[in-house]
Amino acid sequence: MPAAKITANPAFVVGPVRRETFGAFVEHLGRCVYTGIYEPGHRTADDAGWRGDVIELTRELGVSTVRYPGGNFVSGYRWEDGIGPKGERPVRLDLAWHTTESNQVGLDDFMDWCAKAGVEAMMAINLGTRGTQDALDVLEYCNIASGTALSDLRRKNGSEEPYGVTFWCLGNEMDGPWQIGHKTAEEYGRLAAETARAMRMIGGDKLRLVACGSSSSKMPTFGEWERTVLTETYEQVDYISAHHYFENLGILEDHLAAGAVMDQFINDIAAHIDHVKSVKKSAKDVHISFDEWNIWHGSQPRNPAPTGTDWPEAPPLLEDLYTVADAVVVGDLLITLLNNTDRVHAASLAQLVNVIAPIMTRPNGPAWKQTTFHPFALTSANAQGQVLQLAVESPSFTSPQHGEVPSLSAVATHDPETGQLTIFATNRNTTERLRISLDLTALGSLEIDQALTYSHHDPLWFATEQDSSTVLPQPLQNISHHDGHLVAELDPISWSMITLG
Ligand code: AHR
Repeated sequence: MPAAKITANPAFVVGPVRRETFGAFVEHLGRCVYTGIYEPGHRTADDAGWRGDVIELTRELGVSTVRYPGGNFVSGYRWEDGIGPKGERPVRLDLAWHTTESNQVGLDDFMDWCAKAGVEAMMAINLGTRGTQDALDVLEYCNIASGTALSDLRRKNGSEEPYGVTFWCLGNEMDGPWQIGHKTAEEYGRLAAETARAMRMIGGDKLRLVACGSSSSKMPTFGEWERTVLTETYEQVDYISAHHYFENLGILEDHLAAGAVMDQFINDIAAHIDHVKSVKKSAKDVHISFDEWNIWHGSQPRNPAPTGTDWPEAPPLLEDLYTVADAVVVGDLLITLLNNTDRVHAASLAQLVNVIAPIMTRPNGPAWKQTTFHPFALTSANAQGQVLQLAVESPSFTSPQHGEVPSLSAVATHDPETGQLTIFATNRNTTERLRISLDLTALGSLEIDQALTYSHHDPLWFATEQDSSTVLPQPLQNISHHDGHLVAELDPISWSMITLG
């Protein structure tokens, strides 16, 4: 059996485990909002119309921040349409997804949902059809206590206390020709810098501002976009965003390489940030907000996109069903985000409910977990303290698309307060088991608390409303630990978690 070796030492640390790594995303898209988080009359809905079953699953998923209201949607959105009495809110066309937006959920509603779900809002601003004034207006509405037109409007609408939103995305995917108000890097960079500068006149250094980076590593402008946008915005923003979706195009070896592709993308973005920092001789650091990541089987959509005169309200869109292999990839992508915690300071799984999501619902029916729910929830619950810099020796396999890829992907987190060590590991090899030997002697005396694995003889099994529990995380067999030497065997296409204390 191929073998890999890991050596961990608490003296070698990449950086802290950040709660912001476990963000998600709610966009006005398909059934994410309507019949996703919001369904008045549902048997679990509260007085405000929030589905209680979805709130419960959101909490169990361990989500920290939730990005809102888009996505492509935000680039044509008028935030003031979604405030005030619901009966008076205008119905609009949503050009991004060719649907009808009822505006029955808007800013104040979303803040109420965040409080109930125990998450922090990460708000996106429309820099597609709008600009700096709109950003200032929504910031005033959210964060000024009282005594101005917009803060008093918020109070009149029922929210006496300001929301204190600090996380703001300056537009969405402005590099993409599909984006409403798509711009060149120069045009966007200037607008983002001026918007950020003006927003700080209200919110100062407390604001965490995200400039748009590239929509994927495959964008023809990737690299040059970052250089130009950061040249304009470097001193004004805290993060540059990264988006990347992965897809199983039929060759599992290519799909299982996703973690390595994401890792390279992060390294490349970091190089562009460092280049601008160096040219500017700046003392400041800009970090990465990986605020859209997931698997999206976009080349084989399950739901037809509306076109022509058909502008449906909350139709099913992007309702991908995730396989066990997809869940292993999601676990691996989280390992990659954690291993880059020195550069990636925030991330959002896109999205939360129904739309390329770990949680699914049926209108008037139940909510259930997709396969991808499990690695996310377990990682969020058990990654604690600091990310250790591991020494990893791994055999590799060949991906036709990506070349030689290490079979083992692993991260370890260590909490110096409690002594808890957690190892997350993926065997990316599609056919062979992998023996891993860990030298943990530098961590003192430890005992295994929990060892779980997620895999299945059919890696293409997926959960449905009727059966979401045939494949669940199971105890990891074939594991031993003596005097700081841990040995375990990982199934092909598996994700595992071992906690020691
Ligand atoms: O998450 C779905 C879409 O993917 C978002 O609206 C957009 O930002 C990205 O292209």
